[in-house]
Amino acid sequence: MAERNLDFDKIIDRRNTRSLKYDFAKRRGMPEDVLPLWVADMDFETSSYIQDALIERVNHGIFGYSEVQTPYFEIVRNWMKIHHNWIPEEKWLIKTPGVVFALAMAVRAYTEAGDSVLIQQPVYYPFSEVIEDNGRKVVSNDLILENNSYHIDFEDFENKIVKNNIKLFLFCSPHNPAGRVWTVEELRKIGDICLKHNVIVVSDEIHQDFVFRGKHTVFANLGEKYQQNCIICTSPSKTFNLASMLISNIFIPNTQLRRKFRKEVDASGMSQLNVLGLVATEIAYSKGEEWYCKMIEYIRGNIDFVRNFVENNLPKVKMIETEGTYLVWLDFRGTGLSADELDAIIIHKAKLWLDSGKIFGKCGEGFQRINVACPQSILKEALERIKNVL
Ligand SMILES: Cc1ncc(COP(=O)(O)O)c(C=O)c1O
Repeated sequence: MAERNLDFDKIIDRRNTRSLKYDFAKRRGMPEDVLPLWVADMDFETSSYIQDALIERVNHGIFGYSEVQTPYFEIVRNWMKIHHNWIPEEKWLIKTPGVVFALAMAVRAYTEAGDSVLIQQPVYYPFSEVIEDNGRKVVSNDLILENNSYHIDFEDFENKIVKNNIKLFLFCSPHNPAGRVWTVEELRKIGDICLKHNVIVVSDEIHQDFVFRGKHTVFANLGEKYQQNCIICTSPSKTFNLASMLISNIFIPNTQLRRKFRKEVDASGMSQLNVLGLVATEIAYSKGEEWYCKMIEYIRGNIDFVRNFVENNLPKVKMIETEGTYLVWLDFRGTGLSADELDAIIIHKAKLWLDSGKIFGKCGEGFQRINVACPQSILKEALERIKNVL
C-alpha cells in the first residue's frame, strides 16, 4: 500500500487529544485562545505505515512487557548508515524513554552532586534543568551571534572547562534553537579540547534528520578517539513526530562509559519500553522514507517562507539562519522592546504561544522561537499577527 499521509497543508484539529501544545494553554498561564507554535512536535500526521502498524499492534489487544526482536537494531543501524554514513554496533545501544531522560542519566552517571556541567546557551532549556534538578551547576559557553549566525568561542569553551573543573559537556547537534549544523572542523575542535581535559561529550543529535544547509556529522564518526569519549543521543521522535511514544536510541561505544550509564538507568527503575514506541521506530526507519523526504521539503518551504516574510514585512526583526531543526529563532532586539514587553505583546496582543527566548538562557532575551512544523497557512497566520502587533 502506498503512503497516504503526504498532505502537509491539511489542518488537523489537535484540540482535546491530550496535546501538550494545544490543550494546556490556560493551565500553563496562556490565554485560552492562543495559537500554539511552541513545543517541538509537528502538526502533521506521521507516516501512514506507522499509523497502520500501530493500529495492527493495538488490535492485538495485549500490552504486556515487551522487548525488541532481531530486526530492530538492523533497522536503526540502516537508517544511521544511509542518512548519516555512520555504522553503530549493536552492543553500543541503550534504549531509553526519551532523550531528556538520557541526558539526566548522563549527568548522574558522569558527575557528582555539586559538579559543574558545560552547555552552550541559548540552548534547549531541559539541558539546564537536568543539570540543576540533579544538584549540579550550569556553566555556559554562550554561543556568539555574528552576521546572523551562531559560532563557538573556543577560547571561552576551554577556559570555562579549566576554571570550573568540567567533566561533562551537553552538546546540542544540530543546535536548538541556534539552528546550527556544526561543521567537521567545529566538531573536531570541540572533541580535541574535551579530550585534552577529560571532558565527556554527550551529543544530543535528536535533530540530526533536519538539515537544510551543510551536512550533519555524527560526533562518534569523527574518529576512534572521539568515539571513545562520547554518548550519542538519537530518536525517531522528532523525525517522525512520535514524541509521546517515549523511545530513544542512545549509543555509547566506550565500554566503561556504557556500564556507568546503564547502572544509572537500572537505578532509575526503568526496565522495558512501551511496545508502541518499539513498533513505531521499526516502521519509521524501515518504511518512512517517502514521508520523511516530503516532510523535509515541506519544512524547507516553511523556513523559506519565514525568511521571505521577515525580510519583506518585519524590518525590525531578524531571522537567524536555520541550517538545521524545524525551530526558527527570531531576533526581536531591533524593536527596542524589553524581553518582558516582547513576551506580553506576543502572548496577549498577537495571541501567539511561542517559546520565549529567555527560557533558553540569559543570552536568549529579546528572541522568540517559532516551530515551523505546521501547515503553511498556520505559519502565515502567526507571522501576520506578529506583523500587526509590531
Ligand atoms: C535538543 C533536544 N533534545 C531533546 C528533546 C526532547 O527529547 P525527548 O522528548 O526524547 O526527551 C528535544 C525536543 O524538543 C530537543 O530539542
